[in-house]
Amino acid sequence: MKMLYKIFPLLTTLLSLSPPLSADPFHAQCRLEWNFGISCFTVYTSLVTQIKLWTSVDSCIKEGGERCLYELQSANVHYIVAKHRNLIHNYVDDLTFKLKPIAAIQSCKVSAFSVSEPWYIVLDNGINYCNLRNLAEGSGLVSAPGFTEFTNDFKCTQYSTANCTIY
Ligand SMILES: *[C@@H]1O[C@H](CO)[C@@H](O)[C@H](O)[C@H]1NC(C)=O
Repeated sequence: MKMLYKIFPLLTTLLSLSPPLSADPFHAQCRLEWNFGISCFTVYTSLVTQIKLWTSVDSCIKEGGERCLYELQSANVHYIVAKHRNLIHNYVDDLTFKLKPIAAIQSCKVSAFSVSEPWYIVLDNGINYCNLRNLAEGSGLVSAPGFTEFTNDFKCTQYSTANCTIY
């Protein structure tokens, strides 16, 4: 019984160190915004096609870096959910893409988010950024008319030093 008194404060301390992922600003993650001068339907099909092309480990051998081990969870023209397993470090990141058509003109705004599942990952060498960026590059979406990308080092862990050739 005495032991419990000693253990309980330790347990609560440990639990408080691993809060829900979204509430932790120090957890490795990346939030960014893309704009395209093409329809959300085209953006949606491009992203989904690329995720499916990069599911097998073979695509990392072929394309290099971390361009493999993506897994589509669910997808519609408004919302895409996927996972990416890191080839080198073998942990999983969760990816979401919210697609919003801009009225009147043929264009699409995408809010993309990637977060590492393990709570202890604080620095990620920009891996969460590359999880998202590699899909946009691989699918050719970065060359779409009107493409812009907005993020910064506060929204996106180690964004400015990320090297997506490696990750
Ligand atoms: C990124 O990594 C690749 C492969 O190691 C390297 O060739 C390239 O110079 C690096 N790019 C930058 C900007 O550091």
